[in-house]
Amino acid sequence: MKKVGIITGASSGLGRAYAKHIDKVMDLDELWLIARREERLVTLADSLACDCRILALDLTERGSIDMLQQALEEEKPWISILVCAAGFGKFGGAEDMTARETEDMIALNCRAAVEVTRVCIPYLHRGSRVLEVASCAAFQPLPGMNLYAATKAFLLHYTQALRRELATRGVLVTAVCPYWLKTEFMSVARDTANPEAVRHTPFAMRPEAAAAWSLTMSGLGVGVVTCGPIPFLMRVGGKALPACVPMALWDKLRKI
Ligand SMILES: NC(=O)c1ccc[n+]([C@@H]2O[C@H](COP(=O)([O-])OP(=O)(O)OC[C@H]3O[C@@H](n4cnc5c(N)ncnc54)[C@H](OP(=O)(O)O)[C@@H]3O)[C@@H](O)[C@H]2O)c1
Repeated sequence: MKKVGIITGASSGLGRAYAKHIDKVMDLDELWLIARREERLVTLADSLACDCRILALDLTERGSIDMLQQALEEEKPWISILVCAAGFGKFGGAEDMTARETEDMIALNCRAAVEVTRVCIPYLHRGSRVLEVASCAAFQPLPGMNLYAATKAFLLHYTQALRRELATRGVLVTAVCPYWLKTEFMSVARDTANPEAVRHTPFAMRPEAAAAWSLTMSGLGVGVVTCGPIPFLMRVGGKALPACVPMALWDKLRKI
């Protein structure tokens, strides 16, 4: 049985950083790289030591999940690690979002992560790891980034329950909750009707550092990984304070 790693969102940013780090630290037969931009995945695959399978899929399309499921049924691999990193956000309030933005954000950040995970579950075994990339946006509602924060809160809750569901099978499940990262996320997020809804994204972290830290923590069995002190404080604040307090603070900071 082939030991494989599966990474969604591998063409850029955090997903690509995961692919590079996993290639270095894990002994796999194959890495399955998933995203829409095939040429990016080919370039990445060429730079890795591990054999790669490229799945150029638009995960907002329901048929893409069937294609992944079919590939899994044919190969019947042992999935050593699954990383669901595909996702995007848009700056702006509820009234700024188009129907397409709303639909695609929910489809990718919520449904695709859940569906990719669902079709992979039969191929996870004792010691397998699952990393769902949520965000520190999951810890409290965020006006001006409302829908994105809500999708990540959904994913965080889903992942925490999944962790308990799969614990009896010895599968380690981790929600990854980074703060701002230096990736293409920002240019996608600003391509909206109201890019000024969030003016600055200070203290952004390198995706390589977030990938390395969260992979180490997932190996140690940590359930929720905050990448750095700011998301850690947001997690504590989100639990300890009524939501109006972090929201009021965020509302001030995002408009500076
Ligand atoms: N950057 C941040 O500040 C930040 C902070 C916290 C959490 N996150 C989360 O981290 C994850 C990775 O984001 P990133 O920062 O690395 O952003 P990124 O550089 O824009 O990467 C997003 C990835 O998602 C893929 N993707 C987008 N739409 C897709 C679709 N319809 N089907 C399949 N794949 C799709 C993109 O590939 P293609 O375009 O080739 O399809 C790309 O590989 C996301 O879940 C994001 O929400 C980011």
